[in-house]
Amino acid sequence: MSDPQKLGPQKLGPLRLGIAGLGTVGVGVVRIIQTQADLLARRAGRPITITAVSARSKTRNRPVDLSAYAWEDDPVALARRPDVDVLVEVMGGSDGPALTATEAAIAAGKDVVTANKALLAHHGQRLAEEAEAKGRAIRFEAAVAGGIPVIKALTEGLAANQIRRVMGVMNGTTNYILTRMENAGLPYDQVFEEARQLGYLEADPQLDVGGIDAGHKLSLLAAIAFGTKVAFDAVELEGIDRISIDDIRLAADMGFRIKLLGVAQMTGRGLEQRMSPCLVPADSPLGQLQGGTNMVVLEGDAVGQIVMRGAGAGEGPTASAVMADVIDLARGTRLSTFGQPAATLVEPTPARATAPAPFYLRMALADKPGALAKVAAVLGDEGISIDRMRQYAHEDRSVAPVLIVTHKCTPEALAHALKRLPATGVLTGEPVAIRIENV
Ligand code: HSE
Repeated sequence: MSDPQKLGPQKLGPLRLGIAGLGTVGVGVVRIIQTQADLLARRAGRPITITAVSARSKTRNRPVDLSAYAWEDDPVALARRPDVDVLVEVMGGSDGPALTATEAAIAAGKDVVTANKALLAHHGQRLAEEAEAKGRAIRFEAAVAGGIPVIKALTEGLAANQIRRVMGVMNGTTNYILTRMENAGLPYDQVFEEARQLGYLEADPQLDVGGIDAGHKLSLLAAIAFGTKVAFDAVELEGIDRISIDDIRLAADMGFRIKLLGVAQMTGRGLEQRMSPCLVPADSPLGQLQGGTNMVVLEGDAVGQIVMRGAGAGEGPTASAVMADVIDLARGTRLSTFGQPAATLVEPTPARATAPAPFYLRMALADKPGALAKVAAVLGDEGISIDRMRQYAHEDRSVAPVLIVTHKCTPEALAHALKRLPATGVLTGEPVAIRIENV
């Protein structure tokens, strides 16, 4: 295998790729290599070629011509081919072929470029250590926020900063669902079905709507930002499936939008990582984010706040990110997977998010004298102060929808209050509580 660092630029032969996976992303990579060969060669200082490809079905109709490439049924065999320099793993899945092919590539001394957040969230630490021990790289720009170059921003552009906080909307499908619910006034189940028919949902939709996919991404960003081992299991995860059209409407009425928001920060108590639905001001950059778009907000001590917005999925954006990593490898640039040698990443102490925040509380109250006073008394007892409150008109005259925005309170105080509220005997159903992030 050619080693660009030893050969020097003028003697470099082509960088030869083996592409495992020919879905949307794999096809996008092939398309860029076929249509931009000259531009890639100029920028990389050498041609970038495809030796072989692999996918589950050889006969499936694909919108690119693959006839010039060797075919491998087994991605592990593809990874081991002596005429492949870099494995481009775009199959997906935290285990199975994606893992075995990546392991085989590393064992054979090859670099790996992957779009697979699940794989790295679960096995990234070990795989990065193994690759780096062999002087090879695993790169994953495409795994987080699609076309947004957030990995490069953290590992290169902001390398001199203490990162204070990483935040963002990192799953386009859930943002599509939430904005479509608001714009069309449709219930969750109906928009979920629409998203399925449009092909927006992952094969296991829970990865999207349960916040898991976004949680994978947040855990990878946190590792780079804070120099810690990837700790996906420590992410406090909550999906969007309990968000109702009522919440979306009432939040809008109070000047907020609901987003599946990820926040990671290092505190004196340890590493906080949470991915959960939050209310954000409707006129903030995050509040304005529509459809399948992603937004990542990075805060560094020297640089201040950086906001990056762009397509979080799709053929072109994801292939663009894959190719950025491939071009780096062609140039001989082998950055550590997590911005510093994987062996130097430290085990984080996971910390629950305890910082006070305002909360949105929606409940249905018995419409009778003293009902509201009982709720206010419980909140007051727990030290929770009401900032704003609205009671809405209702057809069923016995039950009144009530919305409360609290002043900042701790999640612990709120949890106590929520536990005590049913005993007041004035609530119908469960109250809904959603954190407000004034970003
Ligand atoms: N399902 C993901 C999303 C695709 O909706 O953002 C990219 O990970």
